[in-house]
Amino acid sequence: MTSGNSATMDGVEPPKQSSITPADPCTIVIFGASGDLSRRKLVPALYGLAAQNCLARRFAIIGFARTPMTDQAFQQNAVESVKKFADANTLREEECKEFANALAYVSGEYHHPEAFEKLKARLEELDRAHKLNGNRLFYLATPPEIYPTIIEQLDRAGLSKNPNGKSWTRVIIEKPYGRDLASARKLNETVRKAFDETQVYRIDHYLGKDTVQNLMVLRFGNGIFEPLWNRNYVDHVQITAAETLGVEQRAAFYETAGATRDMIQSHVLQLTSLVAMEPPAAFDATAVRNEKIKVLQSIRPFTPKSIKTDIVRGQYGPGSEPGDSSLLAGYREEPGVAKNSGTETFVAASLQIDNWRWAGVPFYLRTGKRLPSRVTEIAIQFRKAPHLVFRGQDLSTNALVLNVQPDEGISISFNAKLPGQAMKLKTVTMDFSYQVAFGGGERSAYATLINDCMRGDATLFDRADGVEAAWALVDPILNYFEANKPKFPNYSAGTWGPHEADALLERDGRHWRNS
Ligand code: BG6
Repeated sequence: MTSGNSATMDGVEPPKQSSITPADPCTIVIFGASGDLSRRKLVPALYGLAAQNCLARRFAIIGFARTPMTDQAFQQNAVESVKKFADANTLREEECKEFANALAYVSGEYHHPEAFEKLKARLEELDRAHKLNGNRLFYLATPPEIYPTIIEQLDRAGLSKNPNGKSWTRVIIEKPYGRDLASARKLNETVRKAFDETQVYRIDHYLGKDTVQNLMVLRFGNGIFEPLWNRNYVDHVQITAAETLGVEQRAAFYETAGATRDMIQSHVLQLTSLVAMEPPAAFDATAVRNEKIKVLQSIRPFTPKSIKTDIVRGQYGPGSEPGDSSLLAGYREEPGVAKNSGTETFVAASLQIDNWRWAGVPFYLRTGKRLPSRVTEIAIQFRKAPHLVFRGQDLSTNALVLNVQPDEGISISFNAKLPGQAMKLKTVTMDFSYQVAFGGGERSAYATLINDCMRGDATLFDRADGVEAAWALVDPILNYFEANKPKFPNYSAGTWGPHEADALLERDGRHWRNS
């Protein structure tokens, strides 16, 4: 059985996507403007905001990077990336041209004070010309080792403070925020010397995904789920972030990161916090972030002993996607990867949250590259019915599955009677699909988060203590990995990771939900 969305079943137009609230006039400075993130995500997201009238009518964008480039060349590149990566529904020639006119470019070395003086002069010029009220948003999209230099230079140039009493200055800092607890603390110290915490927006793009935010709406905007959301009804939780892609051209970064730093410390722990948090007093930055942090602090810390039994790491070797015989290279054969690389491309973990709500309920997390399908989902697996009245029937337990991507939606499975005289049961699902209910169209997580930052709403960004709490949790795992070299590769590209990942659940009498 599949229950569609009643509005579409009745032939009624699905509601239009809610638009995003317009922000103040401002200048956005992208550091790392010639890089991949800027080209693929940031510039198209800013175009999307402009096209939806979510940027104020007056705005300017300055790209800053080392590569020498004219304003015109940057504008040309921006138009190309908008055409390639922006939501096709928003593409209009005239708006593209207008958007490109708002773009300027400054080139310079990040450690040269003169480069920041040049930037400052350009900011002041654009501010005057477009009447931007002195509002500034700095977006750090460079390789992370440059963050401290940029922050210090902004401070030295007097750019970290508001230029006048009525304006705002904010900074968005991309992940990875540090590479362990010590470096994250150090970065927080550097940031604190230049900015006030209220100016700082540590971004994790997963929090900008509608389906991730909808997790909070499902839990706290409905009366029927929250009473079941605890150890009395939930058997276990599975969180999977699986990718079919390999490391692609990102070996230089990935070799120093691995799946634990790249995905678990950030995206997967964010999802875990949202699933496990207590209801916040309000939907605001302080209340939501306070509750999320409590979850991280309640996760039982890993020790070398528990890492051995509760964490599985893997690295893909050659293989092929299901249904496609072409051979995919193993991780060690990818360009830029060391032939004896010990970097993990897969991690599975079983963790315990030691608090009243979740005591005894395992949370199984898993992420990996070159898995058989691209799927990010959270499955709440409920306990068995306490007494089986339908004897001889194989009853599966109820599951509530939040599909973060790519088939955005929620499904709930339950048992139903098959038609006919005999009492035969079958598991069915009831599905809610974003596509069906709200129509298509890419909703860019980056656009949502940039717009939030411009409006001064930090609810979906990380606080200094939040990133530190996440690193505190993964630090022992990273140290263990460093000290104990694995036998890699241990799974074939196109499979669900090493066998030990299956054994992790089988020993508890459970199994992964594999699509
Ligand atoms: C990034 C990671 O943060 O998230 C990448 O660095 C990963 O390795 C990506 O591929 C996944 O994001 P999404 O939105 O495609 O699930």
